Amino acid sequence: MTLSSTALRLDGKICADALLETLKSTVTDLAQNGKRLPKLVVIQVGADPASSVYVKKKKQTAEAIGMKSEIISFADGVPQSALLSAIEALNEYEGVDGILVQLPLPKHLDESAVLEAISPSKDVDGFHPFNVGRLGAGLSPYALPCTPAGMMSLLDFYKIDVAGLHAVIVGRSNIVGKPMAQLLLKAHATVTICHSRTKNIDDYLKQADILVLAVGMPQAFKGEQLKKGAVVLDVGINRLPNGKLVGDADYASMLDVASAVTPVPGGVGPMTIATLLQNTLKLYYQH
Ligand code: GUN
Repeated sequence: MTLSSTALRLDGKICADALLETLKSTVTDLAQNGKRLPKLVVIQVGADPASSVYVKKKKQTAEAIGMKSEIISFADGVPQSALLSAIEALNEYEGVDGILVQLPLPKHLDESAVLEAISPSKDVDGFHPFNVGRLGAGLSPYALPCTPAGMMSLLDFYKIDVAGLHAVIVGRSNIVGKPMAQLLLKAHATVTICHSRTKNIDDYLKQADILVLAVGMPQAFKGEQLKKGAVVLDVGINRLPNGKLVGDADYASMLDVASAVTPVPGGVGPMTIATLLQNTLKLYYQH
């Protein structure tokens, strides 16, 4: 007979709701004291259906905790100059604390130029090179990228200390993989980043005490590839042809091998949004 154990489900909804409650109480105090309310502006270019869902969710959640929020929508073909002018106006406007440009952008737009146009002090995603550089240099940026910072908060919530552990990140994006490596290093993990050109990726997966999956490949990673007791953080949000949302991990197969796994949906996703609003409040106090 073999003994099997079931991994802990790292519930991002419960953790995010707890964070949102504390943010709501701070915002309620501001309102009761007649103070200006924090405001998040989300810019969307085009009408990608997945982006539209995320953007609406950000605004709804901001409003649910008493913050102000606005979505500014541009047509797919908007000239870059018009987008940059809008960002510059928002940079100057006192009533706006956080500016987020939803990614990905249409191909004709230069993503770096757009992100660099946002004032670092209003860069609620932490994507401006000023903030990226400060994070890399071990200094405090105005804001940390929401998905990685949200994952660190989730680990903290479940009292998982990564110091001395081997964290393997699959995916090297500016949004998740690279900043997550910085945050894990800061928390004293030993960090490896794997990506599409990594040879013998299974050798790295087998060594991972903490495994971060951020590649957007539905259910591509299986329990048999893990080290026993690994903690798996699944950033993937993939829609199957039947409409079901799944992560990059084959969740069911991981349960007997991992010690803890984030579900999809209900894992990393809710943490990203709660962290975005935490960042908005942080920028409000800093500006
Ligand atoms: N697209 C996917 N994730 C993100 C994110 O965290 N921020 C922005 N701006 N766009 C995204």
